[in-house]
Amino acid sequence: MSFKLTDKVTWVGKIDWELRTFHGEEYSTDRGSSYNSYLIRDKKTVLIDTVWIPFAEEFVENLKKEIDLNEIDYIIAQHSEVDHSGALPLLMKEIPNTPIYCTANGAKILKGHYHEDWNFVEVKTGDTLDIGESTLTFVEARMLHWPDSMMTYMSGDNILFSNDAFGQHLASEQMFNDLVDQAELYQESIKYYANILTPFSPLVTKKIEEVLSFNLPLNMIATSHGIIWRDNPVQAVENYLKWANDYQENQITIVYDTMWNGTRRMAEAIAEGIKSVDKDVVVKLYNAAKTDKNDIITELFKSKAFLFGSATVNKSIMHATSGILEMIRGIGFKKKKAAAFGAYGWSGENVAILEEKLKAAKIEIVQDGLKVLWNPDEDAMEACREFGKSFVEKL
Ligand code: FEO
Repeated sequence: MSFKLTDKVTWVGKIDWELRTFHGEEYSTDRGSSYNSYLIRDKKTVLIDTVWIPFAEEFVENLKKEIDLNEIDYIIAQHSEVDHSGALPLLMKEIPNTPIYCTANGAKILKGHYHEDWNFVEVKTGDTLDIGESTLTFVEARMLHWPDSMMTYMSGDNILFSNDAFGQHLASEQMFNDLVDQAELYQESIKYYANILTPFSPLVTKKIEEVLSFNLPLNMIATSHGIIWRDNPVQAVENYLKWANDYQENQITIVYDTMWNGTRRMAEAIAEGIKSVDKDVVVKLYNAAKTDKNDIITELFKSKAFLFGSATVNKSIMHATSGILEMIRGIGFKKKKAAAFGAYGWSGENVAILEEKLKAAKIEIVQDGLKVLWNPDEDAMEACREFGKSFVEKL
């Protein structure tokens, strides 16, 4: 499969309909993904990025149907992660001397991955490559999201090849933002940002401001995953600026795990308490053991505050809740508020451990946690409602 973005630019990537996890098991990809590679035919011919290793053979075979590989003058490797560089070893067997344009870090990491001394041409922000009627300008995007990441701007067609930025894990044969289901597109875009880019939010803002300062016309953003933004592509940029600025909606999320439903009943009573005080706030409850972890992270990203609950087990907390808290610590959410709760039977370490983990994630705890012995009776349920009320009042 291939299709044209413009007269000069052809998509030659791979749609991966089967993909269900990414980065090992760290990221769920319920709607699949794509590895977008682009062929530019101007006076010179340029290939931007390749595809993930399992599709290397298919990629090279398809590329041969599109062009005589020897006609490729330059390869641009915007990012060395294997989902984009995976087909390079096979491709370079066919055209071993073709220059590969990448950042200095890109060259180092590609050598680290593949142990090949290809013809690397290292580029920096502002370096250009004249390919005929168009010029390609490189923009380093260090730590967005790897040290080697970069983007490429093509004049004339006014396309920003953004690599991972502005992408989503979304398989669709429609491939353009104006053609796909808008709710799916938004959900996959925000999930991608929340889970992958939140740690780098200050850099996102800085990089976008830098690119905007060039005042370049923008007709399309050609990502490396999912759909291409051609209808009002600036909306993708505006979303990133919004999300990078400690994004919050009027939402409180309650994440818990429960052994015999005591902590679940507490969670529901706390939610009732919150709603009795604030009718407008959106309250969502997730059992961490039964819900996709990346979907929970997306909901926490949207929240102004959250509550974590767990029963005590083996003097500790239940593993699913612990896993989410560890993810939060790594992601580094800012300006979120929280509290902890849970049922217990005898030793009751749960709330103290939840609070310790929230503090380790630098989340502000706005009130002392609530523990209930065994299954909550009506007095305990009322205490949970009061806990929810005082929590929302302290935000
Ligand atoms: Fe899509 Fe960072 O690789």
